[in-house]
Amino acid sequence: MWNEREDSDCRVIIVGAGPSGLATAACLSVLSIPYVVLERDDCIASLWRHRAYDRLSLHLAKRFCELPHFPHPSTAPTYIPKDRFLRYLDDYAARFRISPRLGSEVLSAVREAGPHRGWVVKVNNPDEGNPSSEFVGGFLVVATGENGEPHLPQFKGLGSFPGTIIHSSQYKSGCTFRGKNVLVVGCGNSGMEIAFDLCNHGALPSISVRSEFHVASREIIHFGMLLLKYRLPLSLVDKIVLALCKLKYGDLSKYGIIRPKEGVFFLKATEGRSAVIDVGTVKKIKTGEIQVLPGVSTIEGDRVVFSNGSSHYFDAIIFATGYRSVANNWLKEDGQLLNAKGLPTRRFPNHWKGDNGVYCVGFGNRGLDGISSDAKLVANDIDMVLRAKASMEKFNKGD
Ligand SMILES: Cc1cc2nc3c(=O)[nH]c(=O)nc-3n(C[C@H](O)[C@H](O)[C@H](O)COP(=O)(O)OP(=O)(O)OC[C@H]3O[C@@H](n4cnc5c(N)ncnc54)[C@H](O)[C@@H]3O)c2cc1C
Ligand SMILES: *[C@@H]1O[C@H](CO)[C@@H](O)[C@H](O)[C@H]1NC(C)=O
Repeated sequence: MWNEREDSDCRVIIVGAGPSGLATAACLSVLSIPYVVLERDDCIASLWRHRAYDRLSLHLAKRFCELPHFPHPSTAPTYIPKDRFLRYLDDYAARFRISPRLGSEVLSAVREAGPHRGWVVKVNNPDEGNPSSEFVGGFLVVATGENGEPHLPQFKGLGSFPGTIIHSSQYKSGCTFRGKNVLVVGCGNSGMEIAFDLCNHGALPSISVRSEFHVASREIIHFGMLLLKYRLPLSLVDKIVLALCKLKYGDLSKYGIIRPKEGVFFLKATEGRSAVIDVGTVKKIKTGEIQVLPGVSTIEGDRVVFSNGSSHYFDAIIFATGYRSVANNWLKEDGQLLNAKGLPTRRFPNHWKGDNGVYCVGFGNRGLDGISSDAKLVANDIDMVLRAKASMEKFNKGD
């Protein structure tokens, strides 16, 4: 039925079966709105299942990491480990009977005009129930995530590096790097935690830091989030958080870690930039077990030259340089939902809605809590549109 245009108006096509796609599907099913979820991988939540390192736990407390209509049990630990979070997602899909079409990569989505106007979505693999591999619906939800594909900076001479080069999404644990000199490029959450993990497995990690950033413990961040929840002004919360960080870590500038002038939550709110959650890395930086180096300038064989002119030899490079959205590869619209980078054109909190029945969930740079609120907003908006349409039809029939 999904490729028929008859009655397609009331159906929703969701692209992606990560937390965002699942949350949207659950909210729609609670409202009895028909939907289909299309997923390119062979499982749900493939980012968490296949592209996350072993020691990963949620960095934010569980109450900020739940999807709609399904709280974590009180027996769950405050910071949920990866495997347990995956089980939560599997249970979530089972609870709301979400069964995505797996192995269905969306190749294009176009809004067609005319009497049977709607979103026409083409996927790579035709199956028996849907030989044309075409889905038609009145609404389209982009849930392919901010982490669509790894971002790798192109350093001069990178091709001459003889050792291992991987992206953080391919990193599982430090056990294969024992005794090796490893350069971690990027000082976000992944980079800082991977450096720590390497150290624990007997590798000799260095971390290349190019920009200023805040580092805080997850408890300090949790405390700050609670203060914000209880409506303390953001500037005051930032002052408290900074004081706590200084108390815990002291001045880190002599170790090469410079804090931005703006506060932790101000940066999150204005630029979507998160503080780095310290899992023990700072202590190892202070003891010299992890070396902090400036930005990479060029690579000459196994020698890496840094921006201040110093150079070091490495056996491996791990790029913890983040991800890129790839929704633009398949979504054909005029840029009113997503910009050239595949990120929302409209500023938060209006980022989730485009015109013509297209929405995005999970693009607000606000983690699982943001996903949860996007999904509810989108489902409720679709519900409203459908209700308005139904009452119009009733009115036109003269009932
Ligand atoms: C290492 C790591 C740790 C993190 N830790 C936290 C944390 O502790 N707390 C927190 O709140 N957030 C965390 N995040 C943020 C994280 O991005 C979100 O929590 C969440 O996984 C994003 O969900 P999503 O559904 O939007 O995207 P994803 O989980 O990336 O799901 C998108 C899905 O879309 C599919 N897809 C992509 N393109 C297509 C296509 N063309 N056709 C069909 N399917 C497609 C993908 O295969 C994927 O399954 C972390 C992220 C990373 C990378
Ligand atoms: C370059 O930076 C590193 C780390 O901050 C430092 O140890 C080294 O002395 C610097 N080298 C030069 C030439 O300034």
